[in-house]
Amino acid sequence: MNVCIVGTGYVGLVTAACFAEMGSTVCCVDVNEEVVRNLCNGKVHIYEPGLETLVKRNYSEGRLTFTTSLADGLKEARVVFITVGTPSDEQGNCDLRYVDAVAREVGQKMTSPKIVVDKSTVPVGTADRVRSIIAGELEARGEAIDFDVVSNPEFLKEGDAVSDFMKPDRVVVGTESEESAAVLKELYAPFARSREKLIIMGVRSAEMTKYAANCMLATKISFINEVANICERVGADVSEVRMGIGADSRIGYHFIYPGVGYGGSCFPKDVKALIGTADEYGYEARLIKAVDTVNNDQKLVLASKIKEYFEPQGGVKGKTLGLWGLAFKANTDDMREAPSLELIRELTALGMKVKAYDPIAGERAMDILKDNSLVEIVDEQCEALSGADCMAVVTDWNQFRNPDFEQIKALLTAPILFDGRNLYAPDKMAQAGFAYFSIGRKP
Ligand code: NAD
Ligand code: UGA
Repeated sequence: MNVCIVGTGYVGLVTAACFAEMGSTVCCVDVNEEVVRNLCNGKVHIYEPGLETLVKRNYSEGRLTFTTSLADGLKEARVVFITVGTPSDEQGNCDLRYVDAVAREVGQKMTSPKIVVDKSTVPVGTADRVRSIIAGELEARGEAIDFDVVSNPEFLKEGDAVSDFMKPDRVVVGTESEESAAVLKELYAPFARSREKLIIMGVRSAEMTKYAANCMLATKISFINEVANICERVGADVSEVRMGIGADSRIGYHFIYPGVGYGGSCFPKDVKALIGTADEYGYEARLIKAVDTVNNDQKLVLASKIKEYFEPQGGVKGKTLGLWGLAFKANTDDMREAPSLELIRELTALGMKVKAYDPIAGERAMDILKDNSLVEIVDEQCEALSGADCMAVVTDWNQFRNPDFEQIKALLTAPILFDGRNLYAPDKMAQAGFAYFSIGRKP
């Protein structure tokens, strides 16, 4: 099948490479000339395990092409995926300007019937909005070309994007058209091999499903973080509690790891967007608002522990924090809404210096933090700790899981470790002579 993907970010490029890998002919369109140029030269601009190999192979075998021209991308395509960003606007609502721009251009440039698919995460009602934008442009051109707008939200997570796309738990397609449903079924047949994996539903239900899924997952995280905060106060250990509740199959062990709050390009913005949508329809989403509030506070929990520790010594001013991890989670270079940024902002505002290391996200972090003279980003894990007064871990990269604690002690001026991901065992840390502080566990 001939497919056009508009927007070659985490979702667009993965979708394109995976469709091409399964035999579709895919043309990717992006407005960013540098991104397109690099992709044509086999250089992938985002870090996503397994993606570069897929992109290179399918590009060299001719099933995957890249262009900045939407008109070229549309020419042969039966299906057009919109996979551009949908960030929060200043009020926290979903900013649809990029989706609108693509819809306008599709309406202006399409020359044959199309199925236009909203894969970006968009508020309920956006398919209708895209439909009316395209219809308006066609009318202005005096053309009557058949098209449909379908919702096909994406559930992949960064770091596992290729495997999530290749082996999805489900593929949701929102459409009222049997013909569109049949085309999407054919396209997804190699991925959703068992029949029940492809779920066809109404367009608005599909749009709502995406927000409900992300808000449910965010709720699990804020819930366990709240439990962790209570555990600390009552002398319980959240890791034990997690095991205890996870054993109940109705609850499960997954996605209830406490930490420094959820970050990333999706949960924070999607939680806020659903609150905004509910508000628009006159409903106050109280539970989802609480999820957001708990998360905002959780991003500052580690900074509070650090401030509290140094309080008797005159505060953190002039002290240095050695920081491991900058990305919002392991296996990604994505810095969007990363909890590390809140921690750094909070501590440097008080005059603390931060020497930080991340295996992949250092360069992106540098772009964001370059004006903060108290921050230094280094290329080596040990270098971040050398001469620091304490250390903190905020990203759960595997390479941080089993470090040489004797070496760490030799690098730091004092053995003090703040663990935002509960990577280490408190009793072992005590044996190793560390002052050790984690999330929801006794020091
Ligand atoms: P991204 O920011 O990584 O990529 C978006 C791309 O779209 C950029 O390369 C940009 O240059 C391009 N673009 C913008 N306007 C364009 C236009 N008019 N024409 C062509 N290209 C244009 O975004 P992302 O992280 O892939 O997210 C895309 C959407 O998918 C969002 O709605 C997001 O919520 C959703 N989503 C993301 C993930 C994820 O893990 N990142 C997972 C599921 C869903
Ligand atoms: C999330 C969802 O998991 C995807 O299904 C969804 O498609 C995507 O958002 C999206 O809509 O963009 P992602 O943001 O890539 O994917 O990463 P997650 O693995 O979900 O992690 C999100 C945040 O929650 C990270 O900061 C992570 O560290 C944190 N987290 C996750 C916890 O603190 N505890 C957990 O138990 C799990």
